[in-house]
Amino acid sequence: MSEGAFRRKHLLGLEDLSREEIEHILDTASSFKEVIGRQVKKVPSLRGVTICNTFFEPSTRTRLSFELAEKRLSGDVINFSASGSSVSKGETLKDTVRNIEAMAVDMVVLRHGASGAPNYLARNVDACVINAGDGFHEHPTQGLLDLYTMRAHKGKLDGLRVAIVGDIAHSRVARSNIWGLKKFGANVTLVGPQTLMPRDIERLGVRVTHRIDEALEACDVVIVLRLQLERMESGFLPSIREYALKFGLGQHHVRNTPNLLVMHPGPINRGVEMDSEVADGPESVILEQVANGVAVRMAVCFLVWQASGAANVPEPVAL
Ligand code: CP
Repeated sequence: MSEGAFRRKHLLGLEDLSREEIEHILDTASSFKEVIGRQVKKVPSLRGVTICNTFFEPSTRTRLSFELAEKRLSGDVINFSASGSSVSKGETLKDTVRNIEAMAVDMVVLRHGASGAPNYLARNVDACVINAGDGFHEHPTQGLLDLYTMRAHKGKLDGLRVAIVGDIAHSRVARSNIWGLKKFGANVTLVGPQTLMPRDIERLGVRVTHRIDEALEACDVVIVLRLQLERMESGFLPSIREYALKFGLGQHHVRNTPNLLVMHPGPINRGVEMDSEVADGPESVILEQVANGVAVRMAVCFLVWQASGAANVPEPVAL
């Protein structure tokens, strides 16, 4: 395990994390990945710890991945989704979570449509809080699993040339990746329509272009973002067809960029942001990202609980 310590009771974003903290999470995830490869894929690290996965927005990957990670750590897991709950009766986020907490819940994993909701919660509850995606703000565990996957394939993050393509303005995945990658001195280029590019984003130390060919020149990794089809109604784009023609990742892009790693956080709109041949092709590591997500989330749950000092946390068997 790396030397850097992780002393945070909450994981709210990658913006505040140091390079050493991120490396520590990734190294811990490597140990847990070894656990997942065993015949018995379970360690007692969170035995007796109760975790509530609290999802106010839809999710497939993040929700299942957290649940699996928590179970592999022997945590007691409960799941909450806003639909069908008392949220529809007007209950506030704080009241909902304080009621969950009253049932002796130790850790809350939160996905919420409002940017900053996990930060708010962390100030108002005793439990550890992990951000599972908040509004347009951050999706830190997605950023971490992306960094983990890039490092596994390219051997390093320092100086890596990464293009992020798509709806940057509404993407929490893009923000977490930018914060994480910049800690390692990676060269990040953002590509997308002007209407979906935040003003002044260059101040984060990234390059902006509106031509995908230009961004892919001498590029090591391309992260293609989901086009949030619901944005179409808001007049951000003239048509999906035009977007696909200008910004969709096709086989010719991959052929013209040697050793390109193709990533996507999911869910994919096939034929819109990426052709099926690319999504399923040899350069794609999309399903590997999903697999790595479990090990990364095991590491995050373990480390925040350890940092909370709430209990004697046994060392995971693999560490
Ligand atoms: N990548 C991601 O956040 O996917 P879900 O919305 O399915 O969790």
